[in-house]
Amino acid sequence: MALELGEPLGYVVDGATPTSARFVSTRPPPVGDYVVIEAGGDYVLGMVRSVGTRSLTLSSLPGVYDPVVVEKLSAEAGAGDVFFECSARLLATLSGGSPRLPPLPGARVYRAPSGLLARLFGGAEGRSVRVGVLATRPDVEVRVDVNTMVTRHTAILAVTGAGKSNTVAVVADRLVRGYNATLLIFDFHGEYVGSSIGGGVNVIEPRLNPRHLSISELMTLLGVEHRFYHQERVLRKALEKVESDVFQGSFIDGLRAALEGSARQKGDEGRAAVALLNKLDSLLERYGDILDDTAVDPVSGLEPGRANVLDLSRVDEDAADVIVSHVLRILLWERKLYKLRGSSRVPFPVLVVLEEAHILAPRDEDTLSKYWLARVAREGRKFGLGLMLVSQRPKGLDQDILSQANNMIVMRLVEPTDQRYVQAASEALSEDLLEHLPSLATGEAVLVGPFTPLPALVKIDRFEGRLGGSDPDVVEEWTRTRAAGSPAEPGGSELYEEFL
Ligand SMILES: Nc1ncnc2c1ncn2[C@@H]1O[C@H](COP(=O)(O)OP(=O)(O)O)[C@@H](O)[C@H]1O
Ligand SMILES: [Mg+2]
Repeated sequence: MALELGEPLGYVVDGATPTSARFVSTRPPPVGDYVVIEAGGDYVLGMVRSVGTRSLTLSSLPGVYDPVVVEKLSAEAGAGDVFFECSARLLATLSGGSPRLPPLPGARVYRAPSGLLARLFGGAEGRSVRVGVLATRPDVEVRVDVNTMVTRHTAILAVTGAGKSNTVAVVADRLVRGYNATLLIFDFHGEYVGSSIGGGVNVIEPRLNPRHLSISELMTLLGVEHRFYHQERVLRKALEKVESDVFQGSFIDGLRAALEGSARQKGDEGRAAVALLNKLDSLLERYGDILDDTAVDPVSGLEPGRANVLDLSRVDEDAADVIVSHVLRILLWERKLYKLRGSSRVPFPVLVVLEEAHILAPRDEDTLSKYWLARVAREGRKFGLGLMLVSQRPKGLDQDILSQANNMIVMRLVEPTDQRYVQAASEALSEDLLEHLPSLATGEAVLVGPFTPLPALVKIDRFEGRLGGSDPDVVEEWTRTRAAGSPAEPGGSELYEEFL
C-alpha cells in the first residue's frame, strides 16, 4: 500500500530507543495523536505522549525570568523563534510487529494519515462494533472486536459521571442490534430498566425460589456467618428434613416447622434453633417479596437476542449478592452443559454486565458473588460467557478478577491510587496512557487490550436512546417546585418500608 505521508511534521532528536523517541517540530501534533516515523528502513507508528514549547532566544538566555524582558524578547524574536519538543511512544511497525530499531536522529516524523488509522481502528467487517472516534481525529472511527471483548472480558473504570453507563448503553445497544447478542445487565440503580437499549430491554424481576438456593446463599440471606457453627449445623439438619419430607406447605413453613422441632431441645442446639427462628422472621420481613416458592430461577427469564436487565434497585446488598451469585452459578453451569451436551437452558453466549462491581467483587472481603465472578472470569471464556465489569472505585475491586479483564475502557480517573491499581492489573496500560486519565473529558476513554489493535484515546459515542440515571437537572426541578407551590402530602409508605 502506498503511503501518502505529506510534509514532515518534525525530526527525531537524539536519545531514541525502539519504543520511544523525542522529536522537534514547528507544527506539533496534539497529545494522544498518532505519528509515523522512519526507522530501520520501515515506518513505526507512535502515539504522542507530550508536547512542550521551546524558544530559541529564551533557551540561549537561561535565567531571564523578568516578565517585561521576556515579553520584549519574544516579540522581537517573532513566531519563528518558537518550536515544540515532543515525545512519542513507538507502538508498532507498519509492516506489523514490534519496533526493534530506534529511529535515527534526523528521521522524519509525519502526522499519521487518517486513512491509515481508519484501516487500523476500523475493525473486521461483521465482527466488530463501533464505540466512537479517535479523540484527536473525529474522522477516524474506532471499532472493537466483538469476540475478543466478550470472551476476554472488559472493565469500564472511571469516576462517577465520566460516562461509564453511557458506554455500556452504546456497546449493548449495538451488540443487540448488530449481532443479536444476549446480554444480562445487573442493574443496581434502575438506570437500564426503562432504557431503549436494543429496541427495549427485557426486565427480569429479582425472584428467587428458596428451594433452589444453596446453603451459603440461604445463610447470607439469614445473616448466619460460618462462625456461628451451631446455627449452621441446625440449619443444615432442618434443610435435610424439609427436603426429605413430603411437606405440603411452603418451603419457609417447612423450614420453620423443622426449626421449631429443634428449638424444643435443650442446650446449644435449642438456642441456635431459636436464634434461627428469629432470623427467619427477619428474613421474611426483608426479603419476603423476592422469595417465591413458585419462582423458576431468573436464568429462565433470559431472552436471547436482547438486553436482559435484572432489576436490583429495590433489594439491599446482601440480597443482590445472593441473586447475582445464584444467577452466575446457574449461567456457568448451563453454559458448561451446553458445551458438553449441546443442549441446555442457555444455548447462546451471554455477556454479563455488572455495574458497581466493587460492591460484589470487593478487594478485602468475601462475598458469594465474588467466588462466582472469579470463576466466570477464569472459565467463562471457554463457554461463551463474558464479563463486563463497571466500577467507579477500581481500587476497591478484587485484583484477581480485575486482571482477568483483558480489555480496559478507562475514562476520567483522578485518584493516583486508583490509577496505580488499574495499571497493576493491566500491563497494557503504560505510564504515558496513565498521564491522560485525570484530564479526560466526559465521554473520553483510553482503550487498551486485545479488542483494539493499538491503545487509543477515544471519544465514545453518545447513546441516542433512552437511559435512566443521567445527572438530574436540579435547577429545573427547583424551579418547577416553586411554580407548583407547597409539596403534597407524603405518600408511597410501602415503598418507604421497603427502603428501610
Ligand atoms: N460519550 C458521551 N458523549 C456525550 N455525553 C456523555 C457521554 N458519556 C456520558 N455523557 C453524559 O455524561 C453524564 C454522565 O454519564 P454516565 O454514563 O451516567 O456516567 P457514569 O456512569 O460514569 O456515572 C450523562 O448525562 C451523559 O449523558
Ligand atoms: Mg453509571
